Amino acid sequence: MSRMLSKMFKFAAIVSVLGLISASAYAGNAFQGYALFNQSCFLCHGTSGKGDGPLAKKLDVAPADLSDTAGSAAGGSDRQLFGLIQGTIKHGSGTSAMPQWGLAMPANQINSLVSYIRFLQRSKHSLPGDPRIGLQIYMDNCAACHGRSGKGDGPLAAVLNLKAQDHTDSAEMNKHPNSHLIEVVTHGTPGKSLMPGWKDMLSEAEIKGVVSYLRLLSAY
Ligand code: HEC
Ligand code: HEC
Repeated sequence: MSRMLSKMFKFAAIVSVLGLISASAYAGNAFQGYALFNQSCFLCHGTSGKGDGPLAKKLDVAPADLSDTAGSAAGGSDRQLFGLIQGTIKHGSGTSAMPQWGLAMPANQINSLVSYIRFLQRSKHSLPGDPRIGLQIYMDNCAACHGRSGKGDGPLAAVLNLKAQDHTDSAEMNKHPNSHLIEVVTHGTPGKSLMPGWKDMLSEAEIKGVVSYLRLLSAY
């Protein structure tokens, strides 16, 4: 290979790596974010992020309402939200009890918190159950068709030539209320497609758990 060509290839490789990094710079895992939020944040911000956690009344500066995007710092860019959580961007009052989470959490966990806070802000539907129950159910019963990441590209869908729903499409998922998703998972879509019903295999709590897990597969 000429030197010129090899330089061009190196340049192309660097550009494509940079492209990957910038595309996924703040792309976290909302499910991991849910778990972290309910360990480290709910005490002040409340489980729904509204700032009404059990410690909130004891604080001099009220914990921010993270679900409110209008005019709040939490409604800024992903980069800003990341910095506010990490502690590298100063908070409004500068005197509050908001911890610097960068001292305790690696960047990938903070990214996951950003994803979960975006879910709280943008999803039209709340979680009807416990997604931690849903994770295992999903991997055992749904990933074969819907794919491990929820894109509808599982190995069983491939051999059966099925078009299984893409659960990572937030616009599409937002169209469906929890009651519809629960109904579909319980009874399947007989006559319409090969989506099986799970009422004989899964309990009501398990079905609500797996629907909750589906909601966190969407990217916001
Ligand atoms: C001990 C209570 C406490 C805990 C725990 C806590 N926060 Fe906070 N947080 C606050 C307070 C108080 C503020 C308001 C800061 C200010 O205005 O100075 C705040 C502000 C924020 C903001 C800025 C939002 C805005 O619009 O100004 C973000 C983002 C945030 N917290 C995320 C988190 C996350 C994520 C966690 C868990 C990893 C967490 N917080 C845990 C008390 C807490
Ligand atoms: C045999 C393959 C297969 C398996 C296993 C499977 N699905 Fe499906 N699923 C499909 C297909 C195909 C569709 C597309 C149905 C349609 O659009 O009518 C679908 C659609 C869906 C939909 C959207 C339906 C609608 O009308 O809105 C949901 C929600 C869903 N599946 C959840 C699940 C869950 C949860 C599991 C595991 C408990 C699961 N699926 C297991 C094949 C499967």
